[in-house]
Amino acid sequence: MKAIVYYNYGSPDVLKYEETEKPTPADDEVLIKVRAASVNPYDWHFMRGMPYLLRLGAGLRQPKNKRLGVDAAGQVEAVGKNITQFKLDDEVFGCCKGAFAEYACASESKVVLKPANLTFEQAASIPIAGLTALQGLRRGGLEDRGENQAGKKVLVNGATGGVGTFAVQIAKSFAAEVTGVCSTKNVEMLRSIGADHVIDYRKEDFTKCGPRYDLIFDCVANHSLSAFRRVLNPKGNYIMVGAADGGGRWMIGLLARLLRAMVMSWVVSQEFVMVGAKITKEDLTLLGELMKTGPIKPIIDRCYRLREIPEAIRHVETGHARGKVVITL
Ligand SMILES: NC(=O)c1ccc[n+]([C@@H]2O[C@H](COP(=O)([O-])OP(=O)(O)OC[C@H]3O[C@@H](n4cnc5c(N)ncnc54)[C@H](OP(=O)(O)O)[C@@H]3O)[C@@H](O)[C@H]2O)c1
Repeated sequence: MKAIVYYNYGSPDVLKYEETEKPTPADDEVLIKVRAASVNPYDWHFMRGMPYLLRLGAGLRQPKNKRLGVDAAGQVEAVGKNITQFKLDDEVFGCCKGAFAEYACASESKVVLKPANLTFEQAASIPIAGLTALQGLRRGGLEDRGENQAGKKVLVNGATGGVGTFAVQIAKSFAAEVTGVCSTKNVEMLRSIGADHVIDYRKEDFTKCGPRYDLIFDCVANHSLSAFRRVLNPKGNYIMVGAADGGGRWMIGLLARLLRAMVMSWVVSQEFVMVGAKITKEDLTLLGELMKTGPIKPIIDRCYRLREIPEAIRHVETGHARGKVVITL
């Protein structure tokens, strides 16, 4: 089968489109014929081996795992002997090992059935970005059913990327009043996905004036925690899911920020927390339902072919993707 493989850390030039062996599923895995995949900043972190701390697990000098990619949608091609929930040809989506390939294995606990009315591309756009948005908003105090939170004020910083477009739409579907922050070129797109208010960061610094928010959902980390606190309600929550520089080479800035967040959460009434996505079937199913029934629209920036993954990753690395970057097989 064809797959994207890499033998050394580095720029997208290290990615090779090669013939490799088709994987065999373990007892609790399914083998998926990948029909679509999507790119996350996570993928270029592993490609570059950065921040360096990541190499402690991924391989100090070279990547231990030569395959890349997580988000995928496709058809079940084979099942391990303990699999009870899936059968051959089921259409599924979720998180795989090495999704940038014609075939990839996934643990049964990390994939769910694809709603029939979603394309493979739409379903592949969901997993990591959708889970991060959903779980971050929940951790910030939004509940899945919005009866008690109508009008809760949520600000999404970095609202037009992979995670941000999900966060805006999920917060809207949970009845919040949503403000999105983006650059000039994305203002109309942000309105079109339901943001009640749009702030163009090239013209206005929302931390300097303006309303206060019950929840700030931050994908960019481009202001200090004190600046965010100025526009947070006294009992508000600040949830950070990522940083524009990806934590830098050594992650020192990010670690210092986490430490400050812990200390601030002790001494002030607001909470400052960093959230990472957990892959759960319940949340993947919920996200599929939200897309199937309409509250979430798939926002797909561009589609690339498998052999064009270096280009796709270059695009995501700019930090200015509009929604999700998808790979079509
Ligand atoms: N914690 C987790 O489990 C988890 C999971 C997924 C992602 N992440 C992290 O979350 C972050 C966002 O991920 P993503 O997939 O959404 O990335 P992305 O698709 O690359 O989107 C980045 C977005 O940031 C916006 N942006 C750039 N500079 C900005 C600024 N100064 N002010 C406001 N917005 C700005 C861009 O919008 P413009 O083009 O309009 O500038 C772009 O839409 C990344 O750091 C990623 O590593 C974390």
